[in-house]
Amino acid sequence: MKRVERAHNVADLRLLARSRLPRPIFDYIDGGADDEVSLRRNVTAFKDYELVPDVLNDVSDVRTETTIFGQPSRWPLMLSPTGLTRMFHGHAELAVARAAARHGLLYSLSTMGTTRLEDLAQAFARPKVFQIYIFKDRGLTAEFVARCREAGFHGLALTVDTPVAGNRERDRVSGLSLPPKLTLRSMFSFALHPSWSIPALTGSKFDLANVSHKVDALAAGPMSLFDYIGGQFDRSVSWRDVEWLAREWNGPLAIKGVMTPEDAHRSIASGATGVMISNHGGRQLDGAPAPIDQIAAVRDTVGDAPDVICDGGIRRGSDVVKALALGATACSIGRPYLYGLAAAGETGVDHLLTLMRQEFERTLMLAGINDIAALSRRHVRHRPRGS
Ligand code: FNR
Repeated sequence: MKRVERAHNVADLRLLARSRLPRPIFDYIDGGADDEVSLRRNVTAFKDYELVPDVLNDVSDVRTETTIFGQPSRWPLMLSPTGLTRMFHGHAELAVARAAARHGLLYSLSTMGTTRLEDLAQAFARPKVFQIYIFKDRGLTAEFVARCREAGFHGLALTVDTPVAGNRERDRVSGLSLPPKLTLRSMFSFALHPSWSIPALTGSKFDLANVSHKVDALAAGPMSLFDYIGGQFDRSVSWRDVEWLAREWNGPLAIKGVMTPEDAHRSIASGATGVMISNHGGRQLDGAPAPIDQIAAVRDTVGDAPDVICDGGIRRGSDVVKALALGATACSIGRPYLYGLAAAGETGVDHLLTLMRQEFERTLMLAGINDIAALSRRHVRHRPRGS
């Protein structure tokens, strides 16, 4: 049995990832902003919900199919966008997307990805979403919209919780540079982890593949690429820009980073078809509420039609059941699949998705649910620990 197959849950895969990656790289995945309160709370908030089961409901056949971003999904889970994926494993985004496709799930590619969106689209026929930003240069955003349409992406997720970069102190302590540089200290750390594949470190393959043409045009090197992209974040972005993007794209669009019913309402009124309730996995505003706690109020405000996706802290299939019962359309995961990727490439992501799917189905059966459409608020009870 391969080592990865002895991982029984996300926590096991996390430990495996930690043993395979140089510490600065692991911390980049694992860490959050400031005191990491939101990072921890995203996960523990799920534990404050009890599942209230029905019995004797004939669960011999369980229906889990759903629609997210207007596209079919085998069960209500999708893969969130994560940047710099090649740093964690040489097969990068394609490995993750292939595993997602095998499981009938939607994959989202980050603007900060290390695979060109056209290459991903060519390799991956399953429904896919592109994570976009409104850049200072609106022309660059418009260019992404056109490229996504041309390449056959099905939806866009507009990330709105990054007017500035979060304060990730683990990265400062570890001295992580992007892309990772060979220094005496980093060489020592990397040498201790020979199984980590290093295309990330050397050669021209490590770049922000979707924006590098901009910098190529300036005949600059990889560091300038990061400078270029850093300089493109625009603090003046507002709802008018959402309206503009919704018109420009004219297709499924979710606003990623919405935390309140009011902003969810505004998102839909501005032309989005859904929201991703998210605090960026605790990497931006520390102290922001846990996404699971915001679902019910958001759903009550936006009504039945829009996608309401809970993004952050999902570590068990049972977490997805809780989010659905509260009113979410689906959940989205970041770190869990990155742990799988770092642990064993595509096989690791595959294994993670199998585990979570098994947990999800088992939980549904134990809760007496034979169709996810039957899940409702009476199946969950909020009971903060200790109460
Ligand atoms: C992210 N996330 C993220 N989000 C985004 O909109 N664009 C991006 O480029 C990235 N990059 C990124 C890198 C890494 C290493 C992580 C861990 C996360 C946030 C991501 O999409 C998602 O919101 C969170 O990961 C969800 O929380 P969990 O599932 O990691 O708890």
